[in-house]
Amino acid sequence: MLHIKEEAARCLLCEDAPCTKACIKGDPARAIRAIRFDNIKNAGRWIADCSDVDLERAEQACIHYDQPIRLREMFKKSDAPASCPPPLAPLRITFCGIPCENPFFLASSAICTNYEMVARAFDMGWAGVFYKTICKQDIQEVSPRFDAIKEGTSFAGFRNMEQLSENPYEVDFDILKRLKQNYPSKVVVASIMGQYEEEWIELAKMAEEAGCDAVELNFSCPQMRLTGMGSDVGQNPELVTFYTSYVKRNVKIPVIPKMTPNITQVNQPAMGSYFAGADAISAINTIKSITFSPEAEVSEKKTISGYSGRAVKPIAQRFILEMAQNTIMKNIQFSGIGGIETWRDALEFIQIGCCNVQVCTAVMQYGYRIIDDLIMGMQTYLTERSLAAGKTITIEDIVGEQLPSFVLPADLDRDTMVLPKIDREKCIGCGRCHISCTDGGHQAITFDLDVRQPHIIGQKCVGCHLCRLVCPTGAIGLSNRFNKKGK
Ligand SMILES: Cc1cc2nc3c(=O)[nH]c(=O)nc-3n(C[C@H](O)[C@H](O)[C@H](O)COP(=O)(O)O)c2cc1C
Ligand code: SF4
Ligand code: SF4
Repeated sequence: MLHIKEEAARCLLCEDAPCTKACIKGDPARAIRAIRFDNIKNAGRWIADCSDVDLERAEQACIHYDQPIRLREMFKKSDAPASCPPPLAPLRITFCGIPCENPFFLASSAICTNYEMVARAFDMGWAGVFYKTICKQDIQEVSPRFDAIKEGTSFAGFRNMEQLSENPYEVDFDILKRLKQNYPSKVVVASIMGQYEEEWIELAKMAEEAGCDAVELNFSCPQMRLTGMGSDVGQNPELVTFYTSYVKRNVKIPVIPKMTPNITQVNQPAMGSYFAGADAISAINTIKSITFSPEAEVSEKKTISGYSGRAVKPIAQRFILEMAQNTIMKNIQFSGIGGIETWRDALEFIQIGCCNVQVCTAVMQYGYRIIDDLIMGMQTYLTERSLAAGKTITIEDIVGEQLPSFVLPADLDRDTMVLPKIDREKCIGCGRCHISCTDGGHQAITFDLDVRQPHIIGQKCVGCHLCRLVCPTGAIGLSNRFNKKGK
């Protein structure tokens, strides 16, 4: 049994993929990338003309350090239609009154620190940039400055100690000016950080003079060398309010404070910035964390610094949700950040109220090219929904559509339950569900060693679904919801 997604996850996503070079008739590496980034419905387009022989040649050319990626088996099993019509749904959306060609932006970080980088990303399809944070301080970075918790060859989470732009601020504003001049349809946002009020105002004015579409206020970097900057500000609602209002009073372009997740009640600084006139709110910056790898030490010392990447997505989404559910902050828009790798991640942020999303760690790992599947995956999704609805569904239509499904714990239905259901065809008899239910659940699964099959004891099962989550083959699904009293 080959798990297509697991096999795709094993692929090294080589830059100039030898498999594709050897294949000639198609682009298996691109097809794998589509699968890897949740765009499986379109994967077929890149291997539609490939015979088994072409794929065998590609497989033989694979440079994987362990086993070649099983391309033939993978694509035989792919349920992707060989030639599906191109998804045409437009992804346009207006953010802070600024037209955006799609909702995908580079997040202020190492992925956008000079003109050439951003220009390349724009050429590849990114709608805009929140440029690396500009400041007036002398930024002295450490080496090394990154660490990662790895899962296979990918980052489950990523820790960084990087601060702000190392360029002189005049150089950065000149870069932004040239970017806006040469890419007028792209959205150029200056991220800035001042040390005190005059500096915030000066940098914001320079952003406006450079022609930037908006200015993001970095209240959230968790590893600043100087105290009273970054997340020290974001954790202090009064300072967030003051600095937002100073900037707001001095520029006409939209002002977008960026929130820190290193706080319990994000609505306190968020409301401060809202009442100070913020046009939108970005969230989240990185989460304070530590890791232990000796290789990541700086001359044998470690420090608290920011965590990002896939692991932080649910936490980032909770921050967006809390702000989006805050009925006091009317008509404020959100820019979602944190762990976004695929169009589906982006969709989730949009469905809880974001008008656009920003991506950092995924680009650091895989490059700007992930924009291809972000765009195509989202277009396919909207095209399918439009066809089903008999009318065009746009990104704007789906902003916040999932908000009503999030309620307080007290408002959840506690009278009914759903039992897990085992699909015998898929079950391989590994016993993982049994061991988890026995040691971490309610001893509601028996395991018949003779036939290597688990059985759910309905009377004991509480419907927690730990078994479904640990099953490696997806053999455990849901049965119908029923009233507990009738159990
Ligand atoms: C190496 C690195 C540098 C960053 N630099 C900045 C920065 O200069 N300004 C800022 O507002 N956020 C900065 N961030 C935070 C990102 O913009 C983003 O908020 C965070 O990484 C979460 O998104 P992600 O999970 O897609 O990486 C940085 C993140 C990383 C990993
Ligand atoms: S050569 Fe192998 S590892 Fe590299 S992209 Fe192709 S299939 Fe993936
Ligand atoms: S975890 Fe899944 S595959 Fe393993 S025994 Fe249970 S149902 Fe079968």
